Amino acid sequence: MTDDVPALELRSLTLRYGEVVALDAIDLVAPQGSFTVLLGPSGCGKSTVLRAIAGLERPASGDVIVEGRRVNDLEPQARDVAMVFQNYALYPHMTVRENIAFPLRMRRVPRADIRRRVEEAARLLAIEPLLDRKPRHLSGGQRQRVAIGRAIVRDARIFLFDEPLSNLDARLRGEMRREIARLHRRLGKAVVYVTHDQVEALTLGEKIVVLRGGRIEQTGTPEDVYLRPATPFVATFLGAPPMNILEGRIESGRFLGSGVELPVEVPDCPRVELGFRPDRSRLGGEDGRGRVELVENLGSDRYVHVDLGGPTIVVRLAPGESPRIGETVPFSVDRDVIHLFGDGRRI
Ligand SMILES: Nc1ncnc2c1ncn2[C@@H]1O[C@H](COP(=O)(O)OP(=O)(O)O)[C@@H](O)[C@H]1O
Ligand SMILES: [Mg+2]
Repeated sequence: MTDDVPALELRSLTLRYGEVVALDAIDLVAPQGSFTVLLGPSGCGKSTVLRAIAGLERPASGDVIVEGRRVNDLEPQARDVAMVFQNYALYPHMTVRENIAFPLRMRRVPRADIRRRVEEAARLLAIEPLLDRKPRHLSGGQRQRVAIGRAIVRDARIFLFDEPLSNLDARLRGEMRREIARLHRRLGKAVVYVTHDQVEALTLGEKIVVLRGGRIEQTGTPEDVYLRPATPFVATFLGAPPMNILEGRIESGRFLGSGVELPVEVPDCPRVELGFRPDRSRLGGEDGRGRVELVENLGSDRYVHVDLGGPTIVVRLAPGESPRIGETVPFSVDRDVIHLFGDGRRI
């Protein structure tokens, strides 16, 4: 297959569960060897997209195209797509080797090939010493690796991962994240990876698709979605602490709202939302002032929550700054990294 045919395309994919519109006109192009992350809150349709690609759900309209070929009418087994499920279940009575071999046995792959491919997958995932163990003698991270092994042992064209790390603790998640990135480079296959975790999305994704309520809010590189969010939803979903959003208006080149006043270079507008990240604002200056509500220590950084008499914003503290609760403080915002939204879209 030539390089310019995408590994996967979704064209205006719409899918309903009874009355519920789970996916509404989803478009996606995943080039060969690419890593695409679907990011969004619980219930936004992430798993449904994967299930539609794998053939486990049938779209109401739209197309699923794998390497240039429409596969809507193909059974899951005929699609050349491998999936790691969120709640992976290993067969408890089988060894690791048998678990990984299972999809190949189902496909009646010759024994010698099974052996070779299982060992290859085990080597990629560094679980060779575990091949003869039963799942109950494995740690959570090791079980997760076996589940991934069971997916990659097939020579699929596309790999789908549904929140594969959500059952692991934070430290192990970081480790597995790096391992999945490495695995992707070595497999050289297109991956579509689902998560609700913005850190996972930003660190793994070459392309990030932000979903909300079955619709795409924004598709872009990690830089695009973080630095130039298309909507207030994307702006606040990526980044921690989340971006501050204030309602107001634009009048003669100034944003006015919640006692905040800032020069901006956009035309007058009666209703806008101003966004700025906590780490792009500081105490001091004269963009606005408010009452200190809380100081939050996140280890590497400390943040102060400032009540503007309605909305509350979060501002990063400089080393040594220790505002008192209840004190009124001035703050200012980096002018070159403010975000303005009108009608819910980036201006
Ligand atoms: N089998 C189903 N029957 C009915 N509704 C479903 C089913 N599966 C998912 N949904 C609904 O479809 C929407 C998307 O679900 P899902 O794709 O699982 O979201 P996510 O994976 O992003 O958490 C949700 O509103 C969910 O309740
Ligand atoms: Mg899900």
